[in-house]
Amino acid sequence: MRRLVKFLAAAVVVVAVVGAGFVGWRLYDRDPEVSAADVPATPELIARGAYLVRAADCAACHNIPGGKPFTGGFAFTLPFGTIYSTNITADKETGIGTWSDDDFVRALHQGIAKDGSHLYPAFPYASYTGLSREDAVAMKAYLFSLPPVHAPARPNRLAFPFNQRWTLAFWNLAFLDEHRFRPDPALNTAENRGAYLATALGHCGECHTPRNLGFAMEIGRQFGGAVAQGWHAYNITTDKDYGIGDWSDQQIADYLSFGHAAGRGSASGPMGEAVGYSLQYLTADDTRSLVSYLRHVEPQTGVPGTEVDPAPGVMTVSSSWAPGETDAGNELGRRLFEGVCASCHAWNGGGRETNYAALAGSQAVNDPEGVNLVRVLLSGGDLKTSHGTAYMPSFARAYNDAELAAVSNYVIGHFGGKAGRVTPELVRERRAQQ
Ligand code: HEC
Ligand code: HEC
Ligand code: HEC
Repeated sequence: MRRLVKFLAAAVVVVAVVGAGFVGWRLYDRDPEVSAADVPATPELIARGAYLVRAADCAACHNIPGGKPFTGGFAFTLPFGTIYSTNITADKETGIGTWSDDDFVRALHQGIAKDGSHLYPAFPYASYTGLSREDAVAMKAYLFSLPPVHAPARPNRLAFPFNQRWTLAFWNLAFLDEHRFRPDPALNTAENRGAYLATALGHCGECHTPRNLGFAMEIGRQFGGAVAQGWHAYNITTDKDYGIGDWSDQQIADYLSFGHAAGRGSASGPMGEAVGYSLQYLTADDTRSLVSYLRHVEPQTGVPGTEVDPAPGVMTVSSSWAPGETDAGNELGRRLFEGVCASCHAWNGGGRETNYAALAGSQAVNDPEGVNLVRVLLSGGDLKTSHGTAYMPSFARAYNDAELAAVSNYVIGHFGGKAGRVTPELVRERRAQQ
């Protein structure tokens, strides 16, 4: 018993010392926040801000369908309740119209509002902390150039203790790596620009990096793939089997700019939105820089059995209009695909009418769990880019759980060459989360 007490006491001391050292290191490593008078807004600053607000995709969370731009109200469903994004127009009462440059910069860098209260990390300040002050100030100049809109925030619904904002000070101490972007001397100028775009502005890791128990992005598993908002944001590291190491520069650039890469599938769900709202507007130079940086991300491995098969047998022997040989079993799935999907998706993985419907080589049809596949069937797709609109209807109402499971498994078998594991129960669960 005494031994145990001694051991526990020693363990507590070790944890305290290591913990304090860790927090101390964080404090030591922090970049000091500089304070300065507000910068006058010039047309150039506003134009630069408009570009940056798009690159940082503020609209993804601060706009809702049918609402006025940047008035908030977007709901985030978390395991412990629901929080809503807020009005970031220059309205003095309900928006951020009274905020100084310093207030705004502090919110982006530290997640602290003008009144000193802590913001929830659903606002991705863990990424925006890397933004330069100049870029943040330009964004504010743009937001303040838009008409102010009176739109009070919706009250959050959070259980105790998660409704206690002060507790987030501890989250920040433990998890917020609070410093401005630091160029990596091993990378060239374009690659470093790409790193800034990926980690700070474009906050790719907020969806693509796995999270730890504290809901913070895991250091050391950057871009290794994670489930975010119910969608699988795939591994986008340089791993050739599980990431995008095998994609050509052109394929990555096309996917980011147009939401589709030949032989790699299309962007749906949250990635479709990231492309539609944000990434398609990057300059060609910035897209190139982003791609060049992605070429340097440490490879991370994945789950065996989820590697993309670009040309499974049953698919390659099919023509656009007919399956080459009957896939074994799953008569219901085949019949549904023939009646409902084949007119757009074709049998040979090529897609008909639009190459956006090409299923060959897409991760979605190579994941035996069908995470994104079922999501796409439930929500449909509506991707708008300079290439036009890629539209797919939602099948949530038209088909029941067993039918959607059957067609999913058929698609995984035919286009991914894998045994699908989608069950009607799984479809029901995902419906409930829609
Ligand atoms: C992934 C979603 C997401 C993105 C992207 C996002 N925000 Fe937010 N933002 C939120 C949420 C959620 C809140 C509310 C947090 C809270 O109540 O604690 C918020 C709050 C804020 C606040 C605090 C407002 C207040 O009144 O306290 C500011 C300022 C803000 N965001 C600015 C921005 C800017 C500028 C961008 C783009 C650079 C941006 N946000 C991008 C989700 C997001
Ligand atoms: C809001 C969440 C979110 C953000 C932010 C985001 N992604 Fe994605 N990304 C996803 C999801 C979800 C998918 C899967 C889409 C699908 O199945 O159609 C995806 C897919 C991809 C793919 C295709 C991978 C494959 O194997 O098919 C690439 C490449 C990609 N993202 C790159 C990026 C880059 C680069 C950034 C930052 C500039 C970024 N993403 C930001 C959610 C996100
Ligand atoms: C009206 C034409 C149309 C019909 C019908 C249709 N789709 Fe689609 N589908 C599309 C288009 C266009 C896209 C790309 C949209 C996007 O990325 O947002 C797409 C995307 C997909 C994706 C995601 C591809 C990827 O690379 O991430 C899957 C999986 C899919 N469809 C399966 C199906 C199945 C199964 C059916 C039948 C139940 C079906 N679709 C019916 C047009 C259609």
